Amino acid sequence: MIIARTLAELETARTRLDQTGFTPTMGALHEGHLALIAAAKQAGLTPTASIFVNPTQFGPNEDFSRYPRDEAGDLAKLEQAGCALVWLPSAETMYPDQAATSVRVAGPSRLWEGTIRPGHFDGVATVVAKLLGQMRPACAFFGEKDWQQVQVVRRMVADLLLPVRIVPVPTVREADGLAKSSRNRYLSSQERAAAPNLFAVMRETVRRIETGDAVEACLAAARAALIGHGMVPDYLALVHAENLEPLDAPSPPSRLIAAARLGPVRLLDNLAVG
Ligand code: PAF
Repeated sequence: MIIARTLAELETARTRLDQTGFTPTMGALHEGHLALIAAAKQAGLTPTASIFVNPTQFGPNEDFSRYPRDEAGDLAKLEQAGCALVWLPSAETMYPDQAATSVRVAGPSRLWEGTIRPGHFDGVATVVAKLLGQMRPACAFFGEKDWQQVQVVRRMVADLLLPVRIVPVPTVREADGLAKSSRNRYLSSQERAAAPNLFAVMRETVRRIETGDAVEACLAAARAALIGHGMVPDYLALVHAENLEPLDAPSPPSRLIAAARLGPVRLLDNLAVG
């Protein structure tokens, strides 16, 4: 596996590879990330990845400085997974002092995470645009766990006519249904035991909506159930799967999306409806 830390090293390595399948990450890798590398391989592409904890997508009171970092462990996992090239840029490379450009995607960024974390998707779109330009992959792979992020990136790629195909990959879950996430490690054992209730409540809500129960009543019952499990829901909504606008009745493509705080962690999840 080639490790590139400068643009010159990346360029030398990059020209030796064609038809790559790129997985951008912030490190602290888990099976969800490795499923993206596996999907690139399965698509017949040469897997590449980046590790960069992107400061511009964290708010001032968020966990940028505490975000888990384990470069040696991550590189071992990527090598084992068959990744051909990993890009480890510095903050100076990604955000030179004189930088004056950022990417802002309206539409799917507007609500939900976009409201709760102002500026978050500007940071994501900006860094993903830079990484795609640096890596020039045929396809880029993103986990469906961050459903809204996938829609924002897809919108950006379509609007900027970027020559890359965005491939969403289904969420990887623990045996009890909890979506894998780098931040799950911050849950206490009691919180970890309660966390799978988010998926369980959402699955039951999807079942009820699909059998024709009134959406608002289903969402109200689900919010109450989450609170009963010790969570503080930030949002739980039925939305159009691509533009993320709220729906009061399922109308494909629709998605149930949720974020709930549990102790120090915000759990995010989403499920297809109908
Ligand atoms: O999903 C993530 O880990 C990040 O948002 C991404 C896409 C790597 C951009 O920093």
